[in-house]
Order: sequence, then C-alpha cells, then structure tokens
Amino acid sequence: MHDAPEVSDAAFDALLRELQALEAEHPALVTPDSPTQRVGGRPAEGFATVAHLVPMLSLDNAYTETELRAFDERVRKGLDAPGAITYVAELKIDGLGIALTYEDGRLTRGATRGDGVHGEDVTLNVRTIRAVPLALTDGPRGRVEVRGEVYLPRAAFDRTNEARAAAGEPLFANPRNAAAGAMRNLDPRLVARRGLAGWMYQLVADDTTVVPPTHGGLLETLRAWGLPVEPHWERCEGIDAVWAFCERWRDERRTLPFETDGVVVKVDRVAQRTALGTTAKFPRWAVAFKFPAEQATTRLREIRVNIGRTGAATPYAVLDPVLVAGSTIAMATLHNAEDLARKDIREGDLVTIEKAGDVIPRVVGPVLAHRPADSVPWVMPSACPVCGSLLQRDEDEVVWRCENSSCPARLRRSLEHFASRTAMNIEGLGEALIEQLAARGLVGDAADLYALDAPTLEGLDRMGRKSAANLLAEIERSKSNDVWRLLNGLGIRHVGERSAQVLAGHFGGVDAIAAASLEALQEVPEVGPVMAASVHGWFHESHNEALLAKLAAAGVRMTGPVQRAVAGEQPLAGRTFVLTGTLPGLSRDEAAARIQALGGKVTGSVSKKTSYVVVGDDPGSKLDKARELGVETLEPEAFLALIMWP
Ligand code: IVH
Repeated sequence: MHDAPEVSDAAFDALLRELQALEAEHPALVTPDSPTQRVGGRPAEGFATVAHLVPMLSLDNAYTETELRAFDERVRKGLDAPGAITYVAELKIDGLGIALTYEDGRLTRGATRGDGVHGEDVTLNVRTIRAVPLALTDGPRGRVEVRGEVYLPRAAFDRTNEARAAAGEPLFANPRNAAAGAMRNLDPRLVARRGLAGWMYQLVADDTTVVPPTHGGLLETLRAWGLPVEPHWERCEGIDAVWAFCERWRDERRTLPFETDGVVVKVDRVAQRTALGTTAKFPRWAVAFKFPAEQATTRLREIRVNIGRTGAATPYAVLDPVLVAGSTIAMATLHNAEDLARKDIREGDLVTIEKAGDVIPRVVGPVLAHRPADSVPWVMPSACPVCGSLLQRDEDEVVWRCENSSCPARLRRSLEHFASRTAMNIEGLGEALIEQLAARGLVGDAADLYALDAPTLEGLDRMGRKSAANLLAEIERSKSNDVWRLLNGLGIRHVGERSAQVLAGHFGGVDAIAAASLEALQEVPEVGPVMAASVHGWFHESHNEALLAKLAAAGVRMTGPVQRAVAGEQPLAGRTFVLTGTLPGLSRDEAAARIQALGGKVTGSVSKKTSYVVVGDDPGSKLDKARELGVETLEPEAFLALIMWP
C-alpha cells in the first residue's frame, strides 16, 4: 500500500476486519506479511519506503516428500536434464527477510522485505545487529545488495518473553514476530538490546561478475566477506540426498540455538537458475520444504478464562503436562469462545495439541473416539470469574469482555502494563507487588503509584527499606519518561509501543492527541480508522480525562517529541569515553568526532571519572582497568546505538 490508497479507509477497515475474523478462525493462515500484522494495517511512519533493486521473491512450499520430489521433477523437466541435479540444502530460518546494501564495502542501507517490491528503511536498527558487519572484508567495489534473514536466537526470544511475562505483557507467539516487532521499533536503543542476529544467503549486484557461478560458491564468498552464513548448508547430488538432509534436520534442529521451520532447497548452478527463471511470485529453482508441526495428545483437565487488561475474556486449556518439541506443555490457548464451540472442545476430552512455528501451543481438536460418556459442551461463563460482572459481547465481535473498568483483574493487568519495560519501565514493580498494592486498596489506578511513600511500601511483604527506596526512585524517574511511554502505558486498545511512538512523534504530546479530531488522528499515516476511533474514544471518556489530570498533577511528563538527537544538541555533555579495540566499520577518529559532536569527551586512560569504556574487538588492558574500577563498558552495537540516537 503506497501513498495513494486504492480503497477508502472504511472499505479498507471492513476488509481488514474480515481478514482478522478469518485469521482468528484459522490462525495457521496468518502470514507475516498479512496487513493484520501491522499496527492499524498501514505502513509504518518513521521509516522511509525504499524500492528493492530487484523484487524480493517468496518461496513455493512443499509439505511432503512427494511434493519435494515433484519439485525435482519440474526442475529436471525445465532443464531437460535426465540426470541428478546439484542442489544446495539450507536451513530455513524463522525470521524476517532483510536486504543490506553495501557500497564500496560499506553498509549504507538496511531494508525489510515489505511487500517484496518496496520495504522499509531500517538502517539504524540494522546497524545495531552485531552479526551484520558495517564494513565487508575484501568486499567488492560498487553497490551490492546482500539478502538474508534477521532472527532472534532462542535464548534471546525466551529472555524477551520472560521479561514480558513478568511485566504482564502479551507474549510473542514466535521468534519471527518478536524479531519483526524489534525491527520495526523506532528506537534503535531498544533494538540493540533485543539481541537480534542474522544469516545471509543471497547476493544482488549491479556488476554480475562478482556473483560466483554456484550457490555454494556464493555462500563461501559471503562468509569470506565477513557476513554471517548459516554453516549447516550442504551440497546435495540429486533429490535423494536432499530428502536425507530434510529427514536428518527434522529432529536435529532441536539442537540449534535458533528456530528453523524447514529446509530451503536451491539449484546450485546459477546458469541453471537463469534457464529456469521465476513465476510472478516464486523462483522455479527453489522450494521451501516445511517440517510438519509437532503434535501430541493429552487430557484436557479444565477450561479456564483469563481476563486481560482490556477486559477481554480468553479461554485457555489446562492440560495434563506432555512433552512436545522439546518442552513440557501444561497450558494451551483456545483463542476464543467461538473457535472453541466450533471445534466442540470439552473439559475431560483427550485432545490433540500442536506446536508449529509457534511457540505457544494450541489445541487442534478433541479425539472424539475417547470422549468420556458424561461430557458436556463447554459454555462461556456468563460472569467475569474475577469480579462477577456480566460478560458482554458486541454484535460484530467474537471476544467476550468484562466491561467493569474497576475489575481487579483488569486493574492489575493495566498496572502491570503501565509499569512494563515498553511502557513506563518502572523496575521492581512486578506482578507480585502489584497484586499486594491492589489487594490492599493502596492503588486504584496508575496515578496512585505516584502517591506511594516509603512507610506504605515498607509495610508490604518482602519489602525492605532499601527496595522501597529503590522503587520510589524508579517511580520518580518514570515521571520524566519520553511521552510515548506514557501513551503506551495508558493501555488504549489498538495502541502498542510502536503506534504510541508514532502518535507521540506526530502530535508532540498527550494534550494535542486528546484535542485531535477523529479526522486528524486518521491522517497520521500509520493510524487506521480502528485505532483512530479507539484513541478518540479513550480520550473522551471522563474517567480517562480524570486519570490524565491526576497523572499531570503528579508531575508525569505529558509533552515532548520522541527524543532524537538533532543538530546542536549536546546529549553526551558531561560524559567521558575511553575507546579500546577496533570498532566494526568505524575508525577511532570517526568515533571520537561523533562523541565530541554530541558534547562528550574522549580520553586516553580509564579512571573512576570515565563514564563508559567502549570495547571493540581485541580490546587492550583498558578493559581490565574498567572492570577493576567498575566502569560501565559498552559493546560496539550499544555504543553505535548511543551515538546514533543518544
Ligand atoms: S531464499 C528468491 N533461503 O523464507 C529466494 N529464504 O518463505 C529467496 N527464508 O522470503 C529466499 N530462510 O525471507 C531463502 N535459507 C533461506 C531462507 C529463506 C528463510 C525466508 C525468506 C523468504 C521466505 C519464504
């Protein structure tokens, strides 16, 4: 979707809703490029749209051995080759397609795949990924585009989700969504912290002589240039060898530190690829073999209902624990009451559960042959399990809600969200503490947090003098957060971290958003009609107006753009840096100049007064000294994030 929309907002919205309903019913159909996966269904503001040198194609899929062999048949027929074809089998990375432009060996641009023709310019974010070299080793002159996948290693994904769980935020369903969420964040500092990595596998060059004649040769070349190449690829003579590779990795993939959902099979010889060509969507010389989703059966003990911060009531299954794809599963999502009724899933059923690319398992359906004779269909309880209010549902919605805005479950979840890392980032204010504050009636809304004092906090369980003081300091600090954090923390439906940044960037403050008409909200590029209506509605509810007034009176910052360094600002004033080791793609002089331009100082030796020691490759004794004195150290990517966007 480009600048001139082809359909009206209303029509777009109707289509989007239809798609959302379809996807809710058939979650397996949700593709990463579905419009529902964008906030508001509109391209992101804050990232420029860029055209790819040549379109980034997608891959045709094969789900069975027969389909894989049919691909080989097509290739051999297309090439009129009776004998075995040489293929390269690579792991299919469950990440996000990326295109990196290098000019004379220097990274000049990073772009997402987008719709394949146009992507988003995410250069600043890409530069924070350690695995992506800022300069190539013996790279070619001129311009080349290197393509591959950006992904979140399993450990980083688990860390992200653990933090989100602790903060009461919704979990990312899979590493791909988490990686996509990170890449589309407007704040490279947050991206740097996520721990993204990348594997590259393709080269597009103006000068075709730099492209080796085989794919295997290309992978070796990319690696020699210092680019990350997934090392488990193999050259396979004929389709039998390819199939053996697929079978082996179906199980061995568990040992990898990242998620892979299949094997990409590619014709090795470039000349054969050219002869085969492409269809409008796929190359004819490659196919993605998808590993089957892993399933298991277990007893569904109970169906419970969870109340989220917007009041949404979501059923979930409590299961007899069972091992699937390497982890023990004791709970699974049931999506919504309609889905559950359609599949007629009942308490006591033996059920099939599945873990596909998704990390959150789902209940596929009941094993009817084993249904207990006395089982009864499940019905959504009529009342909220926490506060007892009647659950309600709009005619055109599938979700039941507890509409009681002071429901304790909703209050707790809203406070957890308010304090979470991507909102007000109040460290130390976790689930257990919020539970106590709410249960004792000490906090009735987010603004009450700012009225807490030391004696009150010290009266809570497991709260000493020191942790109370730390928490109060954190709460105080949160008052001067960037305004998008507050906007995200308010928990307005359809407004997440990114859209909060977009709104704050566009309007500059909460008051301006509150005063904006529905039309003015819809004019913000990434804000669709659904989000606009939600924001407009939220700011016109009297209890929300009262909450904002209370937050403002408490001294919480309500204005100010998304913080970016602009010419003339001295954000590093008063900070002293020491550089040690080599920084990828940045000379010491360039780094020093940038620090000084931002108001910081660079010195040659580490002392207690040093703010940061920047640690490049092969650091010297300055690193030991920093450790000895307890001076903060910065990895290259964190340093780059700091000087690019301090
Ligand atoms: S090759 C023209 N190789 O899968 C061929 N793609 O489902 C371009 N992917 O859009 C793709 N790992 O983002 C290729 N080893 C790999 C891959 C891979 C993951 C992604 C890629 C592509 C999608 C298609």
